[in-house]
Amino acid sequence: MIHETAVSTVASASREIRDFILSQPELLARQSYKWHLYPAGVIAACVADMDFRVAPEVQSVIQYGLEKSDYVYPLRDGRRADRAVAAAFAARMKHGFNWDVDPAQVLVVADLVQATYASILAFSEPGDGVVLQVPNYPPFREALEVTGRQLIPLEMEWTDEGYVFDLEKLEDRVDERTKLFILCNPQNPTGRVFTRAELERVAAFAERHDLIVVSDEIHSDLIHPGATHLPFATLSPAAASRAITLNSASKSFNIAGLRCGLVHFGTEALMQRFHARIPIRLTGSVNNVGIDATVAAWTDGQAWLDAVRVHLLTMRDYVAGILRDEIPEIRFHVPEATYLLWMDCSDLNLDGSASSFFLKQARIGFSAGETFHPDAMNFARMNFATSRPILNEILERMITAVRSLRR
Ligand SMILES: Cc1ncc(COP(=O)(O)O)c(C=O)c1O
Repeated sequence: MIHETAVSTVASASREIRDFILSQPELLARQSYKWHLYPAGVIAACVADMDFRVAPEVQSVIQYGLEKSDYVYPLRDGRRADRAVAAAFAARMKHGFNWDVDPAQVLVVADLVQATYASILAFSEPGDGVVLQVPNYPPFREALEVTGRQLIPLEMEWTDEGYVFDLEKLEDRVDERTKLFILCNPQNPTGRVFTRAELERVAAFAERHDLIVVSDEIHSDLIHPGATHLPFATLSPAAASRAITLNSASKSFNIAGLRCGLVHFGTEALMQRFHARIPIRLTGSVNNVGIDATVAAWTDGQAWLDAVRVHLLTMRDYVAGILRDEIPEIRFHVPEATYLLWMDCSDLNLDGSASSFFLKQARIGFSAGETFHPDAMNFARMNFATSRPILNEILERMITAVRSLRR
């Protein structure tokens, strides 16, 4: 049995996570990609969805639309409905970061991978270079391959204090054909939240090499105590003039299936450059449910989010404590944000990839390290946004599988 150590004390939230936690039978009864990706009996700890019910405020706006069977072309507050998302984002950024967002500079899109592709197409040509931190969320690398751009990798390097990156190593790798820097902050999969100093170095580098910075900030509502998120565009007017910020409520409010996200252009000029290549009609429009759910999440969902964050912090520290005690061969840094743990399993000396070891020997579905970086076969990413019983089962299975290796 696992001994319950290392449970952190955190500020309490006004709601209890137990009211939202889904049990394994409930999860299996849903039609999620995460829980049906693997054969029966495998515990899913992969895809970035959380095993929790959504905020009641989100559920009730969806219910309202359903009851009225209101599925026609929408207006909200007398304006085009997507403007309600832009306004809710602007209000949230003002409140959270004192960032004055002009809603007119917000484009509402279905998803952030789409927005990444569109930004690459808008601001570079085939053959141009794009800087990307590696490892990274797999669709970024895929986007560069599909669009024929040159990946200029910026390694996230292990230090005892955490993962860091060194831009000096790139100075002679970038040239006039390097056009973009894709920044993922908070970073998936390492869980880093970049400091002001690090972001300022990125901004100076972008300035020096005249790069557009696409800053994916989708995990910015899931910051753990001790770290502070800074939207890249707030660093300085110069940074804003080259910043494309991507964000949505989809990760933090667990509504990825509702398909609603946004692109914020740091200046009107950037927005015009984007639309000169990507006509607004090409990015489509978002469905009514996604719009209403996003607005409800950002406007009224904070009490739910607080309860989720308290739970995620507890689970993060719980997993970290158990792994350190029971499987010291797995190296990791406790994530500063997100519910994702990037595990370096090199010291297990496995024959194949870490994810296939845990899938076969422990019946756990982790995200495979090599999808984040071709050299990361010895890594696996755990999603710990689940209940304590499911997490205990995951940890017990891991411990048993690793014990069998040691014999
Ligand atoms: C960093 C990052 N960006 C984008 C996405 C996906 O966003 P969307 O579903 O809006 O394409 C994810 C999903 O996990 C992510 O981690």
